[in-house]
Formats: sequence, C-alpha cells, structure tokens
Amino acid sequence: MITIVGRFEDGWLSPDIEFFIWKQLGYAYKVDRIVMVPKLLERRTSLDQYDTIEDAINSCDGEIVFMEQLGNVSLSSFVHPKNAVYVFGNASTNHMNLEGHKVKIDTPSPVDMFAVNAAAIVLDNRYNS
Ligand SMILES: C[S@@+](CC[C@H](N)C(=O)[O-])C[C@H]1O[C@@H](n2cnc3c(N)ncnc32)[C@H](O)[C@@H]1O
Repeated sequence: MITIVGRFEDGWLSPDIEFFIWKQLGYAYKVDRIVMVPKLLERRTSLDQYDTIEDAINSCDGEIVFMEQLGNVSLSSFVHPKNAVYVFGNASTNHMNLEGHKVKIDTPSPVDMFAVNAAAIVLDNRYNS
C-alpha cells in the first residue's frame, strides 16, 4: 500500500491546482491514499485533509518515510517498505524533528524541489528499482 502525506504550498501554488497535480500523479503510480495538510479545500470532499501533520500521520497505516533534502539515507540505496507512508514538507516546514526514515534525493544541484516533483521521483524509484 502506498500513502502520500503532503503539505499544501499555499502562497506558492494555488491549492486547487496543486490538488489536481497530486491527484493525477497518484493515479499514474497507483497511490492508494493522498492526505493533505492543512484543510484548505472545504469543497473537495474526495480529498483527505487534516489540520495538523500529527493528525494526518496518525490516520495512516504503514511505515513512515519522511522525504527530506537533508535526510541521512539516499533514495538510490533506500529499500522501500511494502506498506509505505511517504511524508513531504513544503517551503516553510520540514519534518526533521519527527521519528522515522529520513530519505534524500541526490540532485546535481542542491536546490529543493516542490514536493510533488520529489514525489514523482520517489514513486518512480519505488516501481523501477
Ligand atoms: C520546497 S521543499 C522544502 C524545503 C524546506 N525549506 C526545508 O527546510 O526542508 C518541499 C518538500 O519537497 C521534498 N523535497 C524537495 N527536494 C527534496 C530532495 N532533494 N530530497 C528529498 N525530499 C525533497 C521535501 O519533503 C520537502 O520538504
């Protein structure tokens, strides 16, 4: 099972558009569940939304994998749990203080990506490594 927990990039991306990008990525990679923080899209009842990252994570079933630019394990050597919950930050918040795997994507330039782009790389690595 694959679960994604993301934080809206409110202020950088319109939440309505960001929601569609996450959803489409989820369809492409057969993601079972997408959870977003905080609750911004009251009209989108098909989307799981929580006010805090703790509530979002507690609602998930699986091994927690924090995707962090400063993580201590490279994605290229990471063994994906069968039942994984991939957790992403946003421009203002990371999760380095929480317990769980901290996995980084090594990029040629040390620039942090939008989470939805990082998620596409993680999902592709899960299916193709
Ligand atoms: C714009 S980045 C946030 C960077 C944030 N300023 C920080 O202190 O971590 C959005 C999210 O995408 C994911 N991300 C972006 N680049 C990544 C990388 N190279 N490796 C792992 N995760 C990455 C992380 O989950 C990150 O929190």
